[in-house]
Amino acid sequence: MQDKEDRLAMARILARLEKYSKAHLEVEEKCLNENGYPHYETHKQAHQFFLSKLEQFRKDFEADKFTLHFEVAIFLKNWVVNHIMNDDKEYKAFLNEKGVM
Ligand SMILES: [Fe+2]
Ligand SMILES: [Fe+2]
Repeated sequence: MQDKEDRLAMARILARLEKYSKAHLEVEEKCLNENGYPHYETHKQAHQFFLSKLEQFRKDFEADKFTLHFEVAIFLKNWVVNHIMNDDKEYKAFLNEKGVM
């Protein structure tokens, strides 16, 4: 990473991302589990993968990995496209049918 300001910005992004994601994923998993979502385990595994990537990013940050900002941006873009726009939409349809959402 280039300078102190960039490092501070990245530290803030990673901290907020971790805090928000943990809270969001926990609520989502609780809802899916309570409503008997058939792909609950697979969905939960995807969340665990996401959180493990955040953990890796934190380590990469500590190690001052030069390409970290690119990797975080690409990972988040893929997460939005693959998980939020596909996997999450799939459970929303399921919950809609059950009248939960
Ligand atoms: Fe999800
Ligand atoms: Fe989600």
